[in-house]
Amino acid sequence: MSTILEVRDLEKTFGQLVAARDINVSVPQHQTVGVIGANGAGKTTFINMITGHLSPTKGTILFEDKDITGKPSREITGLGISRSFQVAQIFPTLTVFENMCIAAAIAHRKPGMFGNIMTPVRSAETTAAAEAAIELFQIGRYRDVTANALPQGVRKLLDIGMAVAGSPRLLLLDEPTSGISIEEKFDLMNVVMSALKTRKITVLFVEHDMEIVARFADRVLAFYDGTVIADGTAHETLDNPKVQELISGVRLKAGAHA
Ligand SMILES: Nc1ncnc2c1ncn2[C@@H]1O[C@H](COP(=O)(O)OP(=O)(O)OP(=O)(O)O)[C@@H](O)[C@H]1O
Ligand SMILES: [Mg+2]
Repeated sequence: MSTILEVRDLEKTFGQLVAARDINVSVPQHQTVGVIGANGAGKTTFINMITGHLSPTKGTILFEDKDITGKPSREITGLGISRSFQVAQIFPTLTVFENMCIAAAIAHRKPGMFGNIMTPVRSAETTAAAEAAIELFQIGRYRDVTANALPQGVRKLLDIGMAVAGSPRLLLLDEPTSGISIEEKFDLMNVVMSALKTRKITVLFVEHDMEIVARFADRVLAFYDGTVIADGTAHETLDNPKVQELISGVRLKAGAHA
């Protein structure tokens, strides 16, 4: 299996604060990677550096063998990396279909200064991508509902669907199940993960719920104080005594994946 993402000696400082340090991770194509760690451990900082929302202080990021370190997020999106944020980024007064069309238009925009206005929001290409994403994420019955009227779980599916509408090869999800009830989380993740499998998208997802991590991740990275303290199968990482000691909630759920 070939490597899709390679991160070497990555570091990010904000003044005196070291938010990320000594991160070395190599991700093969089609892997589902869970990212765990306490609040402030550096998970979002790690994702932000991969997507170009933050420029690393040190280190290298290779995507499909191409050096993307410090490139602007727009360029990185164009190369095939997409993401969702901790808080959903959708247009509340537009419908599900309209939101998807915009996401597809942004992803398919032509390069250059006038790229945005030269890519119509409702071209044959963008509407086809929008309809396909709506079907893939099973939200067809909400197609013409405005985003502000959607149930929270559907809003999440829309948000992630929009990230997928541009056909990325690598997707980064920052807490996709936050704000979702325990009963709904598994259903949401089932839809998301089967959609990503269908499209053969490699995914890194940040998650605080260890049962979700154990159920959906092939591999789990545990962050503590800006660095990766464990990297292995879900079983290996969640059973790691250091992880259980340093990350709350792990010990509690450690048997869940058995
Ligand atoms: N733009 C910034 N400027 C200054 N400090 C920042 C900035 N972004 C993050 N930090 C700090 O870097 C550290 C890591 O933050 P980060 O957001 O990556 O944590 P996290 O693991 O995503 O936490 P959470 O689970 O709460 O989302 C924290 O101490 C945070 O306060
Ligand atoms: Mg975060």
